[in-house]
Amino acid sequence: MTHNEPIGIFDSGVGGLTVMREIMRRLPNENLIYFGDTARVPYGSKSKDTIGKYSGQIVRFLKTKNVKAIVIACNTASSLALDDLRKKSDLPIIGVVEPGAVMAAKTTQTQVVGVIGTVSTIKSQIYNRKLMAINPEITLISKACPLFCPLVEEGLLEDRVTEDIASRYLHELKEYDLDTLILGCTHYPLLRHTIARIMGESVHLINPAYETAKFLKEELEEKDLLRKGEVSLDDVRYEYYVSDGEERFVSFADSVLSCDVKEATQINIEEY
Ligand code: DGL
Repeated sequence: MTHNEPIGIFDSGVGGLTVMREIMRRLPNENLIYFGDTARVPYGSKSKDTIGKYSGQIVRFLKTKNVKAIVIACNTASSLALDDLRKKSDLPIIGVVEPGAVMAAKTTQTQVVGVIGTVSTIKSQIYNRKLMAINPEITLISKACPLFCPLVEEGLLEDRVTEDIASRYLHELKEYDLDTLILGCTHYPLLRHTIARIMGESVHLINPAYETAKFLKEELEEKDLLRKGEVSLDDVRYEYYVSDGEERFVSFADSVLSCDVKEATQINIEEY
């Protein structure tokens, strides 16, 4: 493996592009390969066994691209599959949960933290375990917000419907003295303005995508895996793979990423 090999990033669909966006900003010299499992999305309502199987296939696919590290840019897959994948892999594999939990623990003053995510992420209690391990004094209030992902994918980022649904979901969180809220799903950073308005100024929103990019950089530095030498913009490659619907993917990717996304390649992930 050389330092110039790409970093593999995967998600259940398009949401992980919010993580890719932060990685592009923080590590502009790195080649990146993104896989979105658009044929089998959503993961957020699926079981650990299914998500483990899907994630294993994706890691095998990314390894055929000689990636030097893998980022699980999906909260649900990070919650349910990361530990098993790490046991089986010789590559560094980074999830989005730990970086978000670490930052939340650092940020909170009231020691009351909230997390919102998919049904499977919240059910897994992963954020409770991570936060307890960092600081047992922290109380975590969790809430699944399953309608947020479809709203984002419909482009309803600033809309009355989104505002109404967000008010309903977040209403009960406001009864607690929380000062920090983890946006524990790939799509939620795209709703941060609505969420911030409802939660109020005193609540810090933690974006795990941003924290993960920082974490990844540190990890690659520590393992001496960062790309070396002078790199011009022309030397940086971004590739996109999906399991279905290339056109829809490209149009969403184009709206989230600051670079031009020209194409995505469809593959049969079941073969891996
Ligand atoms: N990417 C998923 C997550 O972050 C959200 C979409 C899904 O349910 O697959 O949990």
